[in-house]
Amino acid sequence: MKNFDIIVIGGGPGGYIAAIRAAQLGFNVACIDEWKNSKGGPAPGGTCTNVGCIPSKALLQSSEHFEQAGHHFAEHGIGLKDLSIDVPKMLARKDTVVKQNNDGILYLFKKNKVTFFHGRGSFVKAADGGYGIKVSGAAEESLSAKQVIVATGSNARALPGAPFDEELILSNDGALRIGGVPKKLGLIGSGVIGLEMGSVWRRLGADVTILEGLPTFLGAVDEQIAKEAHKAFSKQGLKIELGVKVGEIKTGKKGVSIAYSDAKGAEHKLEVDKLIVSIGRVPNTNGLNAEAVGLQLDERGAIVVDDDCRTNLPGVWAVGDVVRGPMLAHKAEEEGVAVAERIAGQHGHVNFNTVPWVIYTSPEIAWVGQTEQQLKAAGRAYKAGTFPFMANGRARALGDTTGMVKFLADAATDEILGVHIVGPFASELIAEAVVAMEFKASAEDIARICHAHPSLSEATKEAALAVDKRTLNF
Ligand code: FAD
Ligand code: NAI
Repeated sequence: MKNFDIIVIGGGPGGYIAAIRAAQLGFNVACIDEWKNSKGGPAPGGTCTNVGCIPSKALLQSSEHFEQAGHHFAEHGIGLKDLSIDVPKMLARKDTVVKQNNDGILYLFKKNKVTFFHGRGSFVKAADGGYGIKVSGAAEESLSAKQVIVATGSNARALPGAPFDEELILSNDGALRIGGVPKKLGLIGSGVIGLEMGSVWRRLGADVTILEGLPTFLGAVDEQIAKEAHKAFSKQGLKIELGVKVGEIKTGKKGVSIAYSDAKGAEHKLEVDKLIVSIGRVPNTNGLNAEAVGLQLDERGAIVVDDDCRTNLPGVWAVGDVVRGPMLAHKAEEEGVAVAERIAGQHGHVNFNTVPWVIYTSPEIAWVGQTEQQLKAAGRAYKAGTFPFMANGRARALGDTTGMVKFLADAATDEILGVHIVGPFASELIAEAVVAMEFKASAEDIARICHAHPSLSEATKEAALAVDKRTLNF
């Protein structure tokens, strides 16, 4: 039996960051993760590193280069003959990027003296004011600790009657491994994965149709921003059908056939070579043996935690996708850090009001704080200011003028309540808004700050000025 101060089960962004922070705080820490690379070796980093954030961004980058070369280089006077895409090479690059991240985490474990176990971690029993944990994998180990952090993540949700085979019906895993550009690609769910993966394969030449159950596009996004994004995606040729009801899904030699009714009730059949199902994710507690210690789960299978990530068991904490809240890597990381600090008697804190969201499409969509529709529903008096990238010099020079920055501020105090961006590098621009909101800045604070020229960030300053109806360049 090996004894540790803290055992972390799961080595995704929630788990591996919790382990590193706990080790920094002087604890003797073990992290157990079962993810295997193609050779059966350890591949820490979880969904995010292996089949999520990192590989999807690698493919978005490759496909965006292809799109630029095919459609936009000419306007710069750059001529190309025989443009082609080598999909296996693109996938190999993506795999290299993933491996660099896996290796980086193993290096960080060594550097911080975190003991890593490759295998499945499961509860055995509560004993001596702590917990016995079994590691099953290449080698079996028995561990114990007074504190356990569960960070076992989530899995893709399948449609009833259409299990993932990762050949024709794909989860995010298969969607990141398609070996050649499909002629026709179908997706169910126009959420974050649907839009990102749909964009990758559309840019590479697939005819992409996304079937979405809800009548509104990106319902959680500020309506004005979602409308602008929808317009841009439609112009690019991404077909998005809203308000559909998906019926029977059949696979055959020719691909996948999806029966569905549209928003008006008319029946259709969509025939595609491959189908990606991206209808959300479910918390993963498979193999954790939660019952052995009475760890409480909710009806969705998520581990029940309080605001501080405490479970119903003393000394057992849970973070990331396996608990409530947005399923985002940076949210998981912040919770991991906060829990390690709480175990050390510090006051770890996560501000859920300032967790940013980014959708890495082109244009990118990013936001933090409340949307206009949320403020209206809450009856909060607010002022809005927008600034279009069309009027920004850097955006014109980049040749990417789609979209806008939008500020929402309290009508009386001018405190920033939400910032919403659709446009180039929204993923980077949103950081300024997060900082501003963390410091409870007013729109005027941002409007008075000197922003470099020419830069996209000037659109942020101008949108803040727009709250007071005094833009300078529009
Ligand atoms: P995970 O990353 O799922 O890690 C859990 C780990 O625990 C896994 O390695 C798993 O194998 C391991 N595990 C589970 N059970 C056990 C056990 N019993 N014993 C040992 N190990 C176990 N989020 C963003 O913020 N930005 C993005 O751009 C982004 N892109 C995404 C793209 C896709 C296609 C997908 C699917 C997700 C994306 N996400 C993104 C979401 C992000 O991946 C998750 O929010 C994040 O990975 C959650 O981290 P986690 O540590 O909670 O869980
Ligand atoms: P999602 O929740 O973003 O979107 C799912 C979509 O599917 C919704 O629009 C929903 O209305 C629709 N849907 C659900 N059931 C349906 C049905 N039966 N028929 C038709 N439509 C249906 O989930 P998604 O895209 O699977 O991603 C999962 C999570 O992974 C995201 O919520 C996010 O937390 C994370 N993620 C984050 C990324 C980022 O930060 N850039 C990128 C990709 C994923």
